[in-house]
Amino acid sequence: MLSGKHGNAVKSSMNILVSLGEIFGAKRLIDVSSVQIAGVSYHNLGDAGLGYLSDLAKDGKVRVLTTLNPAGMDMENWKNLGISPEFADKQIKVIDAFKRMGVITTCTCTPYFVGNIPHFGEHISWSESSAVCYANSVLGLKTNREGGPSALASALTGKTAEFGLHLDENRQAQVVVNVKAKMQTVPDFGALGYSIGKKIGNKIPLIRGVEKASVEQLKSFCASIATYGGTALFYMEGITPGTTKTPEESIEIVQGNIDGAKKDLNDAADDEIDLVAIGCPHLSLKEVAEVAKMLDGKKVKKEMWICVARPIKKIADQMGYSQTIEKSGAKFACDTCMAVAPLKGRFKGLATDSAKGCFYGRGKNAFKTKFATIEELIREATK
Ligand code: F3S
Repeated sequence: MLSGKHGNAVKSSMNILVSLGEIFGAKRLIDVSSVQIAGVSYHNLGDAGLGYLSDLAKDGKVRVLTTLNPAGMDMENWKNLGISPEFADKQIKVIDAFKRMGVITTCTCTPYFVGNIPHFGEHISWSESSAVCYANSVLGLKTNREGGPSALASALTGKTAEFGLHLDENRQAQVVVNVKAKMQTVPDFGALGYSIGKKIGNKIPLIRGVEKASVEQLKSFCASIATYGGTALFYMEGITPGTTKTPEESIEIVQGNIDGAKKDLNDAADDEIDLVAIGCPHLSLKEVAEVAKMLDGKKVKKEMWICVARPIKKIADQMGYSQTIEKSGAKFACDTCMAVAPLKGRFKGLATDSAKGCFYGRGKNAFKTKFATIEELIREATK
């Protein structure tokens, strides 16, 4: 591959992987069974990124199942979300380049809901931080947090360098976290991720004291702990798979930490909220069904986005959920989300059930934020 025998895209991809392997002391390359690529929004890529992808697409073809992270817009319904034709033109070119390389152009941060779901223990190359944390911790897969170019390099070669979380000795918990607080709602889990992340940074925690957690709560927790701490792997006793040694260091999370986290994430006054967005990470089908039930017969009075992977929306169409949601005036934002779409200056305040959404809403779009349950957000949107 390095010799150029398999083409320029493979050669330059292998160069990236070998360089990373040398930097991190990898002894060998290993096969990966799945790739998920971040860095898809034209908002982040710009013309330089588009040029890079177009070059690779001249002779590059993916060797394993590969999907994309959210793009900067809904690829079908961008006009309805207020995206400019100039931006749309560039974003379509980005997706076309990925398509020419054989990438499945489903743009989502929850690839595990739409068929990109390898088997326990497999090595993969994923980039989206919440999905990486979910893959390592909830699905028992093995991946480092890849950058967009290194994930694409894995897709074009089917390989990654064996270091970091690909090695079992690096997958041991480093700190016990005893949770002494009630965990009931999705925002509770977002606040837990915020509290733990702020205390332990990117250490691997063994979390004790959480009695149960749904897929949706774990998805929110992964997004939050990865955002506020940088953690790519955790163990939750009795809930997630995998085994680890018990570390000596321990910390506690009490109700005051959870309440404090929620307070920190709420800095918007009621009259400052002009965008309500849910689906960070992208909603599960179950969540879409619940939202449809809650919005049935109501009218939203504020801009409301439902962020979801397109294949989930297609099933929601078949079930009639989409029609109920759209009848209320809420809009689907497939393939994208409130953080990667170019929204700066369009809205003042974001209400969301996602702790990660608050972080990016503030950082990227200068929004004030309100952090609440979906029920509360729907009350907010319809009042
Ligand atoms: Fe996904 Fe966007 Fe949130 S990529 S995790 S919905 S910030």
